[in-house]
Parts: sequence; C-alpha cells; structure tokens
Amino acid sequence: EYKRRKEMFRAHDLAAKYYHHILMNTDAGLPGLQYLESRGITKTIIETFQLGYAPNDWDVLVKFLKKRGFAEDLLVEAGLLSQSEKYKGRYYDKFRYRVMFPIHDGQGQVIGFGGRILEKGEPKYLNSPETPLFSKGRHLYNLHRARPVMRQEGRVILLEGYMDVIMAFQHGMPNTVAALGTALTNDQVRLLQRNVEEIVMMYDGDAAGQKAALRSSEVIKESGAAVKARVATIPDGLDPDDFLRKYGKDAFVRVVLDNSSSMTAFRMHSLRKEFNLGTQTGKEDYIKEVIHKLLVQVNSPIELETLLRELSEEFGYPKEALEKELLLAKKSP
Ligand code: CTP
Ligand code: MN
Ligand code: MN
Ligand code: MN
Ligand code: MN
Repeated sequence: EYKRRKEMFRAHDLAAKYYHHILMNTDAGLPGLQYLESRGITKTIIETFQLGYAPNDWDVLVKFLKKRGFAEDLLVEAGLLSQSEKYKGRYYDKFRYRVMFPIHDGQGQVIGFGGRILEKGEPKYLNSPETPLFSKGRHLYNLHRARPVMRQEGRVILLEGYMDVIMAFQHGMPNTVAALGTALTNDQVRLLQRNVEEIVMMYDGDAAGQKAALRSSEVIKESGAAVKARVATIPDGLDPDDFLRKYGKDAFVRVVLDNSSSMTAFRMHSLRKEFNLGTQTGKEDYIKEVIHKLLVQVNSPIELETLLRELSEEFGYPKEALEKELLLAKKSP
C-alpha cells in the first residue's frame, strides 16, 4: 500500500517533468506555448508553476512511463491513464491536447493535474479524478508556494481557478490559492486557518461566482474556524485574471481587493435578490430578515454600527428603530 503510493508520487513527478519538457523543448509543445503566450503568461511563470503540455496523441505518456517500469493498472488508479472500454488490455493517456497545470500537496509533491483544452470544448478543464493521492476537497491549488507569504502577511486570497492564481502571482501577489471549482470544504478552511488570520474570498464576478462566494461564506461560518473572512467582488462579470489583464494591478488592489466587504455585509447584499424591494412590505421583510438572521450574529460593535447605518440610510428608518428590532431579535432567537 505504502509502496504503491510512493510509486504514484514518482509517476506524477515524472509526468509533470515530461509534460513540462514537451512544452518547453519540443515542436509538439508549440500549440501549448502559443496558447499560454496568447493568455499573457511569461516564461518565468511557466517555470515557476511547472506548466506543461499534453499533445494531441493517444499514448505519449503511456510509452514514457511504461519504459520506466510502471504498471498500467497503477497508472490508471493514479488517474494518469485510462483503460479502453472496448479492449481491456488497451490504455491511453487521460490528458490529451491540453495545457497541464500540476497540482501539488502541502509538501510540494505533485499529486494531480488540471488540463485546459486549447480551443473551445468540453470539459474546459479536465482534472485528476479522486485517487489515493488526490482528493479535490482536501487540497488547494498553490498552497505550498503561497504558504510562507500567507504566514508573513497573515492573509490569503481565495480565487476560483488556475489562471487566476497564476496571473495574481505574475502581478506580484503570491498569497493566493484556489479550490478549483468546488465549493470550499471544511478541510480546506482548516488548511487556511492554520496559516492566516484572514481569508479574502474573491470569486468570479458572474452569477456562479457570487453564488459560490455565498456558499463558501456559509462553510467558513459553520466550520467555526477562528479566522476572519471577507468577500471582494469583481465588477462587470470579470474574473481576477480578466481584470488584471484589462486594468492592471493598481486598479485591482484599489477597486477589488481594498474594497472587500465583511461576510455579513456581503450576505446582507446578496439577500436583496430574495425580496421585492420596490414594495413597502418587501422592504420591511428584507430589513427584518437581515436583522433577525444576520445582524444578531455580529459581535463587533464597530461592524454592527456600519451595517445599521447603511440599512438606516438606505431605507430611511431611524437607527433607533433598527436597534430596537435587533434587541427583540436577541431576546427571541
Ligand atoms: N473548473 C473545472 N472544470 C470545468 C470548469 C472549471 O474544474 N469544466 C475549475 C477550474 O479549476 C477552473 C475553475 O473551476 O480554473 C474556474 O472555472 P472558470 O471560471 O470557468 O474557468 P477559468 O479559471 O476562468 O478558466 P479560463 O480563464 O481558462 O477560461
Ligand atoms: Mn523548465
Ligand atoms: Mn467561473
Ligand atoms: Mn473564471
Ligand atoms: Mn478566466
């Protein structure tokens, strides 16, 4: 068992090196290199993240790893090869015609891959399946690289995808990680909480991203982890990679990062969608829901003051009325 895992680690290490070599040093890698260039990624960053390329071919990795003595069934279990349904003895590369992003564990060992298709097509990203080494909900992309800076700064930025993390790094923000398209899990919250005091969630500015931000806020809250969390929102449906390429780092810091909301403020704003604020009853129901569900849980008097003032100004209720409602909410939960 232990020996088998060790073999899988070795296979991943070799596969990552091989994909990287193909990208950097061979004609077969040119489409991958052109693709990365078209997305504004520099050679230095390709090296830092050990990006690679899996050519449009059925068995380059099969051949490469077989020659080095690996058994096919082990490589299938490790998620690197697939077995043909029709011909059981046939194996082929799982990743083909994709730019390869190695995923590392906390110690910096390669445990899986994400592969991005070069053109339009489904799935856009193919990720390693659940294997003895890789479990989506228990790892975070870039954690091993980001960790020293996370500890130093006491803060991490949680992004959605590979490209977001890489572009942030390229713009001098190395303290970012990504949960890779899954909702944040308790395990991932713990990984972060061990290293930082504050998590800034920065999901894509589309509807899916905002939903994910809301869901992840709930996970952090319910985890009970001793960590502060804020939510930064990106305008115009952009994601961090888009925004950085379009407007640069200064705007990113000023408009997005330094404008993050507390989790409660973010949830308060998200809740608006569920009420018809054009009507009097809609407004009242919304305010009551905010107070009874969200504000009762706020411990910081300063944060509470800010939120109450915002509510009061926006809906034209005196702050005293809102405070009375809050008292009621605290008495009868
Ligand atoms: N993802 C995935 N499988 C998909 C789509 C997305 O695993 N079919 C994960 C990837 O980790 C991806 C992240 O979810 O990086 C965010 O998805 P999305 O915003 O759709 O992709 P981008 O990261 O913006 O990718 P790109 O900029 O390359 O289009
Ligand atoms: Mn290299
Ligand atoms: Mn997205
Ligand atoms: Mn995106
Ligand atoms: Mn993107």
